[in-house]
Amino acid sequence: MRGHATLALLAALACSRPEPAAVPAAAAVSAPAPLRTDAAVATAEPFATHAAADVLADGGNAVDAAVCAALTLAVTYPSAGNLGGGGFLVTWDPGTREAHALDFRETAPAAATRDMYLGPDGNPDPEKSLEGHLAVGVPGSVRGLSAAHRKFGRLPWKSLVLPAIHLAEEGIPVSAGLAGEFKRHAEKLARYPASAAAFLKADGSPHGKGDSWKQPDLARTLRRIAEGPSDFYTGETARLIVEEMKRGGGILDVHDLSCYSAAWRDPIRVPYRGREVVSMPPPSSGGVCVGMILRVLEGWTPAEIRLDDPAGAHRYVEAARRVYADRSQHLGDPDQWRVPLAWLLSPAYAAERRATIRMDGATGSRNVAPGAEPRREGVHTTHLSVLDFDGRAASLTTTINSGYGSHVTVGGAGFLLNNEMDDFSAKPGAPNLYGLVGGEANAVAPGKRMLSSMAPTVVLEDGRARLVVGTPGGSTIITSVFQVVTRVVDQGESLEAAVAAPRLHHQWLPDKLFHEKGRAPPPALLEALAKLGHTLEPRPEIGDVCAIAVDGAGRATAVADPRGRGLARTLPAWSRPETK
Ligand code: GLY
Repeated sequence: MRGHATLALLAALACSRPEPAAVPAAAAVSAPAPLRTDAAVATAEPFATHAAADVLADGGNAVDAAVCAALTLAVTYPSAGNLGGGGFLVTWDPGTREAHALDFRETAPAAATRDMYLGPDGNPDPEKSLEGHLAVGVPGSVRGLSAAHRKFGRLPWKSLVLPAIHLAEEGIPVSAGLAGEFKRHAEKLARYPASAAAFLKADGSPHGKGDSWKQPDLARTLRRIAEGPSDFYTGETARLIVEEMKRGGGILDVHDLSCYSAAWRDPIRVPYRGREVVSMPPPSSGGVCVGMILRVLEGWTPAEIRLDDPAGAHRYVEAARRVYADRSQHLGDPDQWRVPLAWLLSPAYAAERRATIRMDGATGSRNVAPGAEPRREGVHTTHLSVLDFDGRAASLTTTINSGYGSHVTVGGAGFLLNNEMDDFSAKPGAPNLYGLVGGEANAVAPGKRMLSSMAPTVVLEDGRARLVVGTPGGSTIITSVFQVVTRVVDQGESLEAAVAAPRLHHQWLPDKLFHEKGRAPPPALLEALAKLGHTLEPRPEIGDVCAIAVDGAGRATAVADPRGRGLARTLPAWSRPETK
């Protein structure tokens, strides 16, 4: 426990950013009559789904199950599941009728500077923001998961960490998907000794399908976290992180860790055709942008926005183009940038944007600028969805940014660190990994949270969660969540069909309409969109949605995207355990 006392002492020093207060409890409103509902879980990886289902069967609630699944993914789904990253959680409780949004996004270290990712030529150098120690933002996952558990958890924290500990200690069989990932990332992982030790065999070759893969360092880290999550920020794990940073020339230090706090924020709540869409506010752009697209499209009938129809798809693409233009200008960390949320989500602004959409052809993105607020007013991520037997919903998206993050593993602690710093705008107008551009709102600054697209979402009807949804996919998260929501809510499609349907994506810049190579929409639709002037570009599959739909009688359907290797399970209402 060398250094532990020093770290604890430093933690006691005042941090510049106080721990935000919890969202005040909403005024009591009449709760809907209790409903016997199925419980369900969908995650991107079977071990995590089974661990979460066991928690629900054991009397845990949706937040307990989500926390357990997220910790399990940190062992079994290393490309995105994490201790060294961050994320967002949106919850809904039908009993209290309260929605909550928890921000455990990474922050820029205090020593970060605005131009730190520019090369000698003054242009962004993605090697710096994507690979190695400088790419790492202060991890938020452990603090976030423990904050969620402290506020809502029913089962003991330790019991939620145990499945992850056992899987790390006893090992898991390497699946074909995991073997493929190890092979693709072997060269980069080999650059860092602790990453090579954690993810490659002793001879440096990647583990193959069927090998038993154990993670003893990670197991020890998890055991410490099980005893007290603050170990990650002020204890032995913090010491190991700081040592790793020093070894690799990183700037994240002991103060960054001890001062990190998760923040409860007011969720985005957008009424939509008799439902309410609840999602994540800034520093994610996810909920705002999904809400803005819905607001623009609400001006047409559901039949007019069918995504399988050229006119409907065109309307959606044009709405997305405008929303992403606004994203580039107006969205950033709300603690450091005034985000004009009310204006962006107002019906009046949606109508203004809608009026500029022409039905006779695409508006080239060069002709679309971010809107100007009137002066007078002020790949890789993972998502999991959970519903418990009381109808409580937890929608959680977490990430280390691109697959295997910075590729840096903390020596002796066995977990990967994120490369989330690339989500900042290294230079105004210069695209990041996802081709997204941004400006002042999302410039690098000490302690600032980088803008995200993550959109953990819950759609409510009559006070009950009817759809719990989210996905990885960087900039495509927003359009993937929107497409599943509109297919279920507007078109009445089954959740299976809505998730499996081909996806289209436009994000203003680059001015391209992306469609999936493996799941191309009907050729006639693509031809019609090309005729309207959209520049089509095939790309690999978009998203890995994990979602749950619940009908009015409490029957749940859970779906893990056929694009991924996840698993969904439902637990019938009759199997509800006696409350502990
Ligand atoms: N790292 C991707 C996102 O947060 O949008």
